[in-house]
Amino acid sequence: MARFADAHEIRSTFLRFYEERGHAVVPSSPLVPFDDPTLLFVNAGMVQFKDVFTGRDKRDYSRATSAQRCLRAGGKHNDLDNVGFTPRHHTLFEMLGNFSFGDYFKADAIRWAWTLLTEVLEIPASRLVVSVFNGEGEDAPFDQEAFDLWAEIIPRERIYAFDAKENFWQMGDTGPCGPCSEIHIFLEGDEAPPDAGKPKMGPAFEDRRYMELWNLVFMQYEKLASGEMNRLPAPSVDTGAGLERLAAVLEGARSNYETSLFRPIVDRAKSLAGVSGDQGEHEASFRVIADHARAAAFLIADGVTPEQSGRPYVLRRIMRRAIRHGSLVGLDELFFHKVCDEVVQRFSDAYPELLEAREAIEGAVRIEEEGFRRTLNRGLRRVSKIIEGLDEGASEFPVDEAADLYTSAGFPVDLTRVIAEENDLRLDEAAVAERLEALKGDAGFAGVGAKVSDVYFEIAKRLGKGSEFLGYEVDEGEGTLLAIVVPGEGEGEDAAELVEIQEAGVGQRVELIFDRTPFYAESGGQAGDTGEIRFAHSDQGPGSDARLRVEDTRKPTGGLHVHVATVEQGAIRVGDRFALRVEAARRDAIRRNHSATHLLHHALRAELGKHVTQKGSLVAPERLRFDFSHGGPLTREETREIEARVNAMIVANAPSGTAQMSLPEAKEAGAIGLFGEKYGDQVRVVTIGGDSVELCGGTHVRRAGDIGLFKIIAEGGVAQGVRRIEAVTGLGALRWVQDTAAVLEDVGAELHARDQADVMVRLGKLQEELADKRREVDSLKRKLTTGGAAAGKGDEVVEVSGVKLIARRVPVADPKIMREAADTLRDRMGSGVVVLAGERDGKANLLVAATKDLAGKTVHAGKLAAALITHVDGRGGGRPDMAQAGGPKVAGLDELIAAAPASLQAQLG
Ligand code: ALA
Repeated sequence: MARFADAHEIRSTFLRFYEERGHAVVPSSPLVPFDDPTLLFVNAGMVQFKDVFTGRDKRDYSRATSAQRCLRAGGKHNDLDNVGFTPRHHTLFEMLGNFSFGDYFKADAIRWAWTLLTEVLEIPASRLVVSVFNGEGEDAPFDQEAFDLWAEIIPRERIYAFDAKENFWQMGDTGPCGPCSEIHIFLEGDEAPPDAGKPKMGPAFEDRRYMELWNLVFMQYEKLASGEMNRLPAPSVDTGAGLERLAAVLEGARSNYETSLFRPIVDRAKSLAGVSGDQGEHEASFRVIADHARAAAFLIADGVTPEQSGRPYVLRRIMRRAIRHGSLVGLDELFFHKVCDEVVQRFSDAYPELLEAREAIEGAVRIEEEGFRRTLNRGLRRVSKIIEGLDEGASEFPVDEAADLYTSAGFPVDLTRVIAEENDLRLDEAAVAERLEALKGDAGFAGVGAKVSDVYFEIAKRLGKGSEFLGYEVDEGEGTLLAIVVPGEGEGEDAAELVEIQEAGVGQRVELIFDRTPFYAESGGQAGDTGEIRFAHSDQGPGSDARLRVEDTRKPTGGLHVHVATVEQGAIRVGDRFALRVEAARRDAIRRNHSATHLLHHALRAELGKHVTQKGSLVAPERLRFDFSHGGPLTREETREIEARVNAMIVANAPSGTAQMSLPEAKEAGAIGLFGEKYGDQVRVVTIGGDSVELCGGTHVRRAGDIGLFKIIAEGGVAQGVRRIEAVTGLGALRWVQDTAAVLEDVGAELHARDQADVMVRLGKLQEELADKRREVDSLKRKLTTGGAAAGKGDEVVEVSGVKLIARRVPVADPKIMREAADTLRDRMGSGVVVLAGERDGKANLLVAATKDLAGKTVHAGKLAAALITHVDGRGGGRPDMAQAGGPKVAGLDELIAAAPASLQAQLG
C-alpha cells in the first residue's frame, strides 16, 4: 500500500486525483447548512451541492471534488452515543467525494474510484468487495448496469446485491437520492472470501470482518416532503469516502483513533491527564474527548455557540460529554480548551478557518467547561441523594427525577443514565424523552427552526426557480401571482399544515408568491419587508379593487419570497397581475441600518484588530445589532473611536457599489463576511463607504451619507469571546440623542446645575452629603439600641440567679446594629446575657447573646431565643453565644421582653 507522511496527504492526493480529471476543487462548506432548514448539520459532501443536483442552482462546472467536514450528531444519522466505544463512529468526520452534475455517470464513477483505491493508494484489489442495489418493487429495479460494470473489474463472487436499506442513499427526509454502490475492504486477510450470492453473507450483515470505504451514489431522484419521488434533470454522481477509514487502512491501524488524524489529539488529552500508552477501559474516554474536541472546534469556528436549543445545544451536549469523560479519567482541571487547541494546530493547514477562530474556540470552550463543572457537581450531589433515597432493591432510576434534573438543574439525561447504571439502576431514557418532549431544546429532532411546510417544497419544485427580486433597484414593481397558501382545514397537528388555494377574499390571511417582487424576504439578519399589494390595472373588471397589506416577507426554501398578507379589499386569484409596493420609509430605515453594520464591521476590525469577525446580526428599521468575536468589553475610548470612524465614512459620502463575482475573486478583492455563505460560484459583493467590502445579499444605501448619523447605544457580552453592539442610525439616531439630552436636561434642572458640566459636580456633592447622613443615622441607631451612654449600668440590669441580664425593647431593630450593640453591652457587662428585640419593616426581630464565660455552660443563647421567639409567633434559634430570630407578631414584643427573666431562670434551673 502507498505510504504517506500522514492522513493530511491522503486528503490532498484524493483531491488532486479528481482535479486531474477535470473536477473543480471546492472547499468544504461550514457545518451549518446555508439556507436549508431541513437539515441540522451538513452530514455528507453533497449537501452544499443539493440545489445543483436538482437544477435549482447552476455552477460553471459540472464536476467537483471536495473534502467536506460532516457532523452526525442529532437528527438523521445520529451516532453520538456510540462515539468513543467503537473503532469508527465519530461525530465529526471528513468525507472525500467526487460529484457529477449531469456530466459522467456510473461507468466513470466506478472506474475512477477503483483506479484511485488500487493504483494510487495501492490497496490490494483482492481485499475489496462491492455491493450494488438489488432493487425494490417495480419502480426501483436491480442495478444491472452497475453490476455489469463491476463484473468487468472484479470477480462476480465479490459483487453483493443488497436492498434499499443498504444500497439506496438519501440525504435526509427530503432531498436528492438514488441507488448506490459501496466498496468494502476485508479486514482479516489478503483475500476477501468469495461469498457474494450466498444467503445472509457479506458486509451488509453486521459482519465485522468488513469495513465500508466508499459509497458511490447514482443520484437520479429528489424525494419531496410529501414522499413523492421526482426525477432529477439528469443522472448525477455523488460519492463519499471517509478520510478516517482510508487513513486507518493505509496506516494499518485497527481503529480510526490510532491514525495520524486522531493520535496527536488523544495523546494531548493523555498528557494533560499525566498518563501515556493504552489506558485499558479508560481508553474510550480519551477517544470521546478527542472526537468531541474536533467537533467542538469546527462547530465554534463555523459560528455555533453553546446555548440551550437546536444546533447550539448539540454543541453543548458534545462539549459536556467530553468534559464528563474528562472527569472519569482524572482531568479535574479545565482541560478541554487545550485539547481543542490541538485540533486547531493539527487541522488549520487544511481548514484555515480554524486558525481564524482560535480565540473564539478557546473562549467558548473554557466558559462552557467552567459552567458545566459547577452544574456537574451540583447535579452529582442530587443524583446521589436520589439514589440513596430509593427503596432497597429498587432497579429503576425514577423517570420524573431524571427529567427534573434536566429541566431544573441542566443535568444531562444521558449522564444520569450512566451514573444510574454505575449503581445497577436502569433509566428508561425514552420515557424521560417523552416527558421532555414538550420542551424546546430536545436535540433529538430532525430539523431546526420552523418546519418548512411541504407545500413550499412542492411549489419550489414546480416553479423550478425562486422569485425574481427587483428590490435592489426599486421599491415598486409588478408581478404575477403564482400561488396562494393558507392554513389547511385539518384538526390537531394537521391544522398547522398549509395548503394551496386558487382564490381568496376579504379578511383572509394568505401567503403569496409572485414571479417577481420588490419585497425583500428576511435573510442574512435583515428583516423582511412590509407594504401594500394592489390589483395592477384597476379597470380590469371583477376583483380589480383588490388591496392587501403585507405584514412580513419570508424565504422558506428554494428562493421563494413569501408575502404574508391580509386581503383588505376585493378578491385575488392565481394568475392575476398585481402592483407590489414596499413601505419605503421602513425599507429606507432598514437600508441605513444594514449599511451601517458593514461600516461598523469595518471600523471594528480597523480599531480592534483582524480577529474581529461577524457572529450574527439583526437589521430592523428601528435599530441594528451586530455580534462579533472579541475578547472583552470595549472601553469608552474604543467605543467613541469606532463611532468616529463610522461617522467619518458616512460624511465622506462615497457611493455604494455592488458586483457579482466568483468567491476567489471576492476574496482577492478583500471581501469579508464569508460567515455562513454558500460556496457557490457567483457571490454578491457590496462596497459601502469606499472601504468596506463584504459578501451580502441585503439592500443598502446609495451613498454612505444616506445613513445620516451612527450612534452606538449598547455594548455587552453574549457569550465568552462574543460581544454585541446595538446602534441606531438616521432619524432614529437623532431621536436617541434628543431623548438622552432631554434626560440630562431634566436631571440638571433637578440639581439646579448651571450647565452640563455642573451636573457631575452637583451629583458628587449630593453623594458626599448622602454618605455623611448615612454615617450620622448609623451612629444614632447605635446609640438608640445600646440605650446611650448609660446603658449597661444602673436599673436596666437585673440579676437572675446571679446572672446579669439586660432585656430591652429597641427602637431600631436593624440586625447588624443589634449585633454591634450586643457586643458593646456584653463588653460593658463583663459577664451576662443580652436580650434585644424590636420591630423592623412590620416584623419582630430578636437577638440573644451571652458572654463567653456563660455561653454553652450555664446559658445557651440559641435555646433562649427559641423559647422567647414564640411570643411573636416566630421560630428559630442559634449558637450558644449568639442567636437571631424573627417573628410576625409585633404586638408580642413587650410580652417577649417581660418574659426574658423567667425564661433565663428556667434555663438556669
Ligand atoms: N452522500 C453519500 C454518503 O454520504 C455519498 O454516503
